[in-house]
Amino acid sequence: MTVDLTTTIQRAGETAAAARVLRNGGLVAFPTETVYGLGADAANAEAIARLYRAKGRPAFNPLIVHVGDVAAAQHIARFGAAALALADAFWPGPLTLVLPKGANCPVADLATAGLDTIALRVPAHPVARDILRGFGGAIVAPSANLSGHVSPTTAAHVRHDLDGRIDLIVDGGPVDVGIESTIVGCFDRPALLRPGGISRADIERVLGSPLASPAPGAADGPPLASGMLASHYAPRARMRLNAANLAPGEALLAFGRVDLPGIDTASAVMNLSESGDLKEAAAHLFGCLRALDASGARTIAVTPIPEDGLGEAINDRLRRAAAPKG
Ligand code: TXA
Ligand code: MG
Repeated sequence: MTVDLTTTIQRAGETAAAARVLRNGGLVAFPTETVYGLGADAANAEAIARLYRAKGRPAFNPLIVHVGDVAAAQHIARFGAAALALADAFWPGPLTLVLPKGANCPVADLATAGLDTIALRVPAHPVARDILRGFGGAIVAPSANLSGHVSPTTAAHVRHDLDGRIDLIVDGGPVDVGIESTIVGCFDRPALLRPGGISRADIERVLGSPLASPAPGAADGPPLASGMLASHYAPRARMRLNAANLAPGEALLAFGRVDLPGIDTASAVMNLSESGDLKEAAAHLFGCLRALDASGARTIAVTPIPEDGLGEAINDRLRRAAAPKG
């Protein structure tokens, strides 16, 4: 009882502090169910400019706007039938919808990088929801890491990347999903812009039709989603995917029970999920990449991961982590 009460009071105090910092144009890192986000007041262009600077994020890469419920989202963007069906099925939760901006959209233009569309999400994490309620407005929140680096799944990861660059970190423990939200563009035909915490199959079941892929030409303009930036989610170490053996000195990131030739010479070994569970693997992915990086490994070899369910998002992040930097 006592412990519960203390925790509740503590959380109320931190929520109030977070709302105060946001109101004053400050930057607050807080947990969502997917990854930790770095929040700023979505209506405050100066705060958003600070946010881009703190992350070292290019200003052509737009932000996700977080709100408390569908009604708040409808003040910001225009919802068609498909968008409403998806919001109804998956909010609050790890889904982001890209929609046409509404007529009186209160979000600062800087957050959308000059696009006439806007990305919206209703997070499910109780701390995120408390902060949204306490603040009372929309909050832009990219993942709370330095731009291009691995997304944070604990408050310690946030501290490692952003300590001294932001005003407050609210620690809600390790996150649940571990991989960012799925981004669906609700255009003529709904398109998968970034695989994430909700699988393609679950979304297609609600839509009753297959998701489109973004037009290939889209890569020439501003990126539709940072899923489209070749190098992203990147550790320092080189990554070698679909490894069937291990070279001397390589670190191993395994999935399922594996026994590779050369495993006895591994500099470090971590397993995303020994039982081969993709949900568990998603939750462990970014933490394992950070830990293997911190072990000083020059190369991280990764065993194959099936492409179904959350495997699509895991493989997407691994490919971006492996892409040449710069
Ligand atoms: O799970 C998540 O989505 C986390 C948590 C904190 O909510 N946030 C997150 O934000 O992953 P970030 O900034 O790391 O990724 C946002 C993605 C970027 O790839 C950006 O390009 C895309 O959303 N995006 C934002 N607005 C867009 C728009 N109007 N059209 C297309 N893509 C957009
Ligand atoms: Mg990010």
